Amino acid sequence: MAQDKRPAPAQAQRGRELFVKSPKGIACATCHFLDGVGTAVGPDLSKFASVATPHSLVATIKMTMTNEVQLVKTADGKFPGILKQKQGDDFEFWDLSKIPPVLQKLTAKQITSMDRDTVWKHPPALADYNAQELADIIGFLRWASTGSQKEIKASEVDDSQ
Ligand code: HEC
Repeated sequence: MAQDKRPAPAQAQRGRELFVKSPKGIACATCHFLDGVGTAVGPDLSKFASVATPHSLVATIKMTMTNEVQLVKTADGKFPGILKQKQGDDFEFWDLSKIPPVLQKLTAKQITSMDRDTVWKHPPALADYNAQELADIIGFLRWASTGSQKEIKASEVDDSQ
């Protein structure tokens, strides 16, 4: 991350507020770590935010189907989980059915099955952020990842167009 980046522009500051404590749904920082805040449950956003267009960032933020999330079944039940780490037969999953997500440590023997989860929804898919709020969040992701000061316009993220 750029150490020498200039102060956040107003848009990135607004986006950071939403990232850290959104009034809508569950704040991004509950599950993502960026610019010194949050918990790294979900992926590091800085790589994707550096290269993706605002439009594809919005599509990803609002995704209703995920790739990495697994439906983990054990003798005690099941939960949508994302793998934090695996060492030999020892697995650590973030249990996404809990907010904030909780670490579950399981051994291979305790896991009955593991399949791609088709039910879990990325929380922002269900929060109705408007185009300006999404532009501000993306402005923050961009600034934190690349130092870009460029304003993201609401029209760049509005998928109704
Ligand atoms: C409850 C946890 C949770 C919250 C809250 C959350 N995310 Fe995520 N996010 C995830 C998980 C888990 C993934 C990985 C999904 C996958 O690929 O299967 C993810 C993936 C992403 C990705 C795709 C990253 C990549 O490299 O593929 C982006 C972008 C993203 N989140 C942005 C956000 C933003 C912005 C917010 C807030 C508006 C947010 N997320 C809120 C858990 C969360």
